[in-house]
Amino acid sequence: MKSYSLNRGWRFAPSFDNNFIKGEFGDTRFIDVEIPHNVKDVPYNYFDEESYQFVSCYYKSIEADKTWQGKACLLCFEAVGHYAEVYINGKLAIAHSGGYTSFEVDIEPYLDWDSANLIVVKVDSTERPDIPPFGNVIDYLCYGGIYREVTMRILQKSYLKAARIASYDALKAPKIGIKLDFSSPAVKDVDCTVKDAVGNIVKSFTIQVNGASYADVKESIENPVLWSTNNPYLYTVELNYNGDTYSYRTGFREARFTKKAFYLNGVKTKIIGLNRHQSYPYVGYAMPQSAQFADAEYLKSLGVNLVRTSHYPDSRHFLDRCDELGLMVFTEIPGWQHISKREDWRDNCVKNVSEMIFDDYNHPSIILWGVRINESGDDNELYAKTNAVAHELDDTRQTGGVRCIPQSKLLEDVYTFNDFIHSGGKRAITPKFIVCGNKPLLITEHNGHMYPTKRFDHEKKRQEHMLRHARVINATFKSKKTAGCIGWCMSDYNTHKDFGSGDKICYHGVSDMFRIDKLAGVLYKSQQDDYPVLEVSSNMEIGDVAGGQVGTVYMVTNCDTVKLYKNGDLINTFNIANMAKKSDLRYMPHPPIILDDIIGTQIEKDNSFKLSKHACKKLKKFLLAIKKYGTIPAVLRMPLTVLGLIIRYRIGIEDFTNLFGKYATGWGDKSAGYTFVGIKNGESITCEKSAAQYAVLHAHADKTALTEAETYDVTRVVVTALSNCGAPLPYCNEFFNIETDGNIAVIGDNCCALLGGARAFWLKTTGKSGKASVKISSAIGTQTIEFDVKANKIIEL
Ligand code: GAL
Repeated sequence: MKSYSLNRGWRFAPSFDNNFIKGEFGDTRFIDVEIPHNVKDVPYNYFDEESYQFVSCYYKSIEADKTWQGKACLLCFEAVGHYAEVYINGKLAIAHSGGYTSFEVDIEPYLDWDSANLIVVKVDSTERPDIPPFGNVIDYLCYGGIYREVTMRILQKSYLKAARIASYDALKAPKIGIKLDFSSPAVKDVDCTVKDAVGNIVKSFTIQVNGASYADVKESIENPVLWSTNNPYLYTVELNYNGDTYSYRTGFREARFTKKAFYLNGVKTKIIGLNRHQSYPYVGYAMPQSAQFADAEYLKSLGVNLVRTSHYPDSRHFLDRCDELGLMVFTEIPGWQHISKREDWRDNCVKNVSEMIFDDYNHPSIILWGVRINESGDDNELYAKTNAVAHELDDTRQTGGVRCIPQSKLLEDVYTFNDFIHSGGKRAITPKFIVCGNKPLLITEHNGHMYPTKRFDHEKKRQEHMLRHARVINATFKSKKTAGCIGWCMSDYNTHKDFGSGDKICYHGVSDMFRIDKLAGVLYKSQQDDYPVLEVSSNMEIGDVAGGQVGTVYMVTNCDTVKLYKNGDLINTFNIANMAKKSDLRYMPHPPIILDDIIGTQIEKDNSFKLSKHACKKLKKFLLAIKKYGTIPAVLRMPLTVLGLIIRYRIGIEDFTNLFGKYATGWGDKSAGYTFVGIKNGESITCEKSAAQYAVLHAHADKTALTEAETYDVTRVVVTALSNCGAPLPYCNEFFNIETDGNIAVIGDNCCALLGGARAFWLKTTGKSGKASVKISSAIGTQTIEFDVKANKIIEL
């Protein structure tokens, strides 16, 4: 088999004329573009969402090698948003509806062996009423273009169209199951080799096909290493058919939802996940492999064990990385609430199920197929079909179908339910018996529109946002029969005018559009045990809160202990594990902990009133009560304590006021600097909350070695304003300029402003090897980052 990359050298125009099919481009202005490509980039916010909805043209010419004659020349498009017609030398080779699944065609019959061959692709990125998810409003943007890779494979004329590989009975009698679809009745048998992660052959066998067009075999494998979230062990399967070698990855695992719980390899596993949209600022869906990898890595760092690819199938790169990282996936067909009555729409909906399954079957990370339009009502006719297709193509995985109504008709195996009951009170999730009786239940969305929160909102809002996610996660851990919950959502996203904050952004993420954590994101991170996490929910600035009272503040942490320093002096040590046990949210692995004592040992140390040890404690308790309840309620709660302090130690009203100011709020005193140091398994982490003297600009690239291969490469650069002592500065909105030198370019604006003290941008490679750099300059500092760009040799057409 020969494989070619066709991602470079395309010409693009944002219009289409039938003459283009014949190669007559007239005076239409075409520009050079590379795949992944977005038909029209959009501003960060406040833009016209129809600006990218039009019919456009891509063309490219290729030389056909004479050795391809008589072979299958499979031209494959991994995703084109949302309708495509592919013309080769003026003839229609294939048309495809649907923007999230791949399609391929054998173009050998259309090729000219003596002159250049013209590939013209007509791309319709309008919201066509015959294609899901379109037909009504949608809470996300569906960008257009050839936004995933284009490849060509040269195979023998009788070739393997698809191989669906999965494990069976992984726990008791492990087998590998292989389903093969041939392009025509098979002309030979298929040799199969299974290799472990280091390339050792664990099994070789021949699949007897006997001239059929389809084969389905199972072979036992002895003691395979199981794929799990902690040990995502992968095998490779090599198939040799008719002179061509095909290679696939697979894993052995058993994933099962029962009416009680979810079990991975027989181990009861609570699913804690997040929904992900595949969009990015400016370029929408058009981001290459490395950005897809980075999103999977970001989710893993957030400590979740599952991602839902809301509301469509994601890039194979994203899924590959989920396989490698041990991140489970619930993927689903494209759709959002609306079911059309149109035949063509409904046919496309059913077709999306089979295309999704053929595209993504071999990913062990996928544990559930979503075969219902997200949040649609019942439609037994349609969903009987989608379920039947899924079960026929895949007898290893269960189906789900996301709905937001309890007790709807369940044609799937798992009741996947968006539970938005939590609106800040005590009720965090709907009792299971109300939702679906005793069927298997997975909560597939919570929070989101119930509490939109910007990364630059006031700290009290961000704290409540974090607590709302915590309450639902906690209730899910407490509920014995709920398989898990998936929060809405990983990152903010651009959306249609009918949703969001009026600026075309939906601020529902636990991170912003640049994948920078909000406090709720830190909460997710703090649920894992691989590395220490510590964030404090307040800036501890008295002028930023009502009445100078910072109120209830939380430590979002997975640390064993946290030490609190005030102006460099250790004033308190918190035993987090003990405090967690007493928390209302104690069912989750690491509940956020109330910072209940910022006075610590200060009173005893200063002790200007010569109080006894006991009296020091009482005074502290009283001052903390004022902080919590206000002065009069605190006095009414502790009248004897107050009287005792007045009579025995002669503490007057003014003294109380001064003591309160000094120890509990800082009002009327010099500003205090608080430093929190968390320790987990001997590793420490510091969180600074000191008043800033000045701001300093920091810039950090996710990686500095970039590689051009099948496509251009990208990296994110995060720009942050930090105080002179390292504290984040949430109100710093300085602008900065971005200048590049060498073979990289900025995606998006070259001049932008920080948003609440931070922002990021992406850089992309421009095709050549060498050194490159980016300079970020602003009034609060300038920073330069150097990069090494390596352009790998690949076979291109
Ligand atoms: C759900 C929907 C999601 C998103 C979310 C916001 O109803 O499924 O796509 O719109 O609401 O909370």
